[in-house]
Amino acid sequence: MGVLDGKVVVLTGAGSGIGRAVVGEYVTQGARVVAVDVSEQVRTLPDELGDAVLPVVADVSTWEGNQAAAAAARDAWGRIDVFVGNAGITDGARALEQIDGAQLPGAFTELFGVNVLAPMLGVRAVLDDLIASQGCVILTGSFASANAAGGGALYTASKHAVLGLVRQLAYELAPDVRVNGVAPGVAPTRLRGTASLGQGATDSVLEGTRDMLPLQHVAGADAYNGVFTLLASSELSGVMTGSLVVADSGLGIRGVNRPGGRVVSGSAA
Ligand SMILES: NC(=O)c1ccc[n+]([C@@H]2O[C@H](COP(=O)([O-])OP(=O)(O)OC[C@H]3O[C@@H](n4cnc5c(N)ncnc54)[C@H](O)[C@@H]3O)[C@@H](O)[C@H]2O)c1
Repeated sequence: MGVLDGKVVVLTGAGSGIGRAVVGEYVTQGARVVAVDVSEQVRTLPDELGDAVLPVVADVSTWEGNQAAAAAARDAWGRIDVFVGNAGITDGARALEQIDGAQLPGAFTELFGVNVLAPMLGVRAVLDDLIASQGCVILTGSFASANAAGGGALYTASKHAVLGLVRQLAYELAPDVRVNGVAPGVAPTRLRGTASLGQGATDSVLEGTRDMLPLQHVAGADAYNGVFTLLASSELSGVMTGSLVVADSGLGIRGVNRPGGRVVSGSAA
């Protein structure tokens, strides 16, 4: 028996990193998951997790991609209880000053298309199903949803927009659908860059990150599984809507002193 027994989930960005880890945890907790990604990598999930996972290769920055994901869930399992909008790309922390003005509109369209438009399209595509099931939405924000220097101007603005979406949709969909988010600090993944800026994938964890974290540890991509499970369960988080749960190893609360009160020369006392 798992806390998500009987739930049907549509989760985007399921091919790798945080999303892939959450798919595994949701299946362990009893859910069936439509795992959506633009990457073919998502097709290997049923080999690991069995027929509780249905992979869909789709670009979630398009309406058609989100419609296909929703239709797959309805056709296979007849309902949708949880939508997780997790797909994301980065700007490689490139400063505005380092982006040619002529490239900016294209880069904005590309990055906001995945980080902001996609979760709106995804929620829109499953809205009737979520209202019928009295379900919930979980969006992946970031440390950059509330702070500078977790990305460049494009990424930071897009993740602040995710916080706005969480709050606005929580209001619009109450009392039928709960809407929350998760704001990871750092996870050892390789986020895709913005192709229109000529960027490939880059390591999400920068050198020196560990030493800056109050908790002094860069957790694995699966470290967020518990928070995503909490928010997906109406039994565990039925009083939560409109919240972006910060899961950043303390990064957002440290000041200019040493990273943690018991940290001595970069290691815990
Ligand atoms: N890794 C970190 O340090 C970190 C920190 C804060 C927030 N996040 C956020 O976590 C989320 C997951 O990222 P991750 O770190 O696991 O990286 P990741 O690259 O491993 O996962 C992102 C997934 O999204 C998919 N994707 C990208 N564009 C897509 C599209 N148009 N359609 C469908 N799928 C698409 C990618 O193929 C990839 O599988 C992102 O929203 C990211 O911004 C990550």
